[in-house]
Amino acid sequence: MNKRIIVALDFDSKADALSLLEQLDPKRCRVKVGKEMFTLFGPEWVKQIQAMDFEVFLDLKFHDIPHTVAKAVAAAADLGVWMVNVHACGGMEMMNQARQALLCFGDERPLLIAVTVLTSMLQKDLEQTGIRSTLEEQVKRLALLTSDAGLDGVVCSAREVTMLRALLPITFNLVTPGIRPEKSAHQDQKRVLTPKQAIEKGSDYLVIGRPITQAEEPMQILELILNEISKTDQSNNL
Ligand code: C5P
Repeated sequence: MNKRIIVALDFDSKADALSLLEQLDPKRCRVKVGKEMFTLFGPEWVKQIQAMDFEVFLDLKFHDIPHTVAKAVAAAADLGVWMVNVHACGGMEMMNQARQALLCFGDERPLLIAVTVLTSMLQKDLEQTGIRSTLEEQVKRLALLTSDAGLDGVVCSAREVTMLRALLPITFNLVTPGIRPEKSAHQDQKRVLTPKQAIEKGSDYLVIGRPITQAEEPMQILELILNEISKTDQSNNL
């Protein structure tokens, strides 16, 4: 499968992001715009990236009443993004209305995925919000709810890929951050997989930030990763 890598554009400066984008090949990767860049530079920035032929994952993790989220997701579709996301804990009705808001975009609609439990949360954080089940049970419950709502997939931590792949239809996309090529620094990521391990375990898309964005030769690192995972893809007949 082509373009499995989503490069996280975690910059506070357009100039820095542009200097990276100019070195990357839009035929070989997609990019993720999160809350920081979107808040700083808005939809015009997304359009600018798209004008450079990059497909954009708009990572704004919407969570609000169903009507508001449906409108926000439709606005993202109007912007022409490739993927957009919501928080699964917004519930079935919220996810359903978000999905329905995209129907009128037909084949042009973005993929709609959900976040289950933020990987920054520990068991005690869940308990503080009144959730009594284990973290793992909560992740499973929200991933199944997302699938039942007809969404296209979930963001999941490297640690959860095996469990979720076994539970969900093969067409349900698993989007996995916390990826570190062999020998690269882990920074603040605690539980990492290599790109090859993540694909072997069943990830569909890999979100990779600093190993590419901070590299001296970003395109060279991207090619190394693509080369590594293409062997796995071939052996899986993908
Ligand atoms: O630089 P790094 O590869 O760690 O960047 C990973 C990207 O994925 C960042 O944009 C981070 O916010 C995001 N992310 C994550 N873990 C999650 C969800 C998103 O690292 N559970």
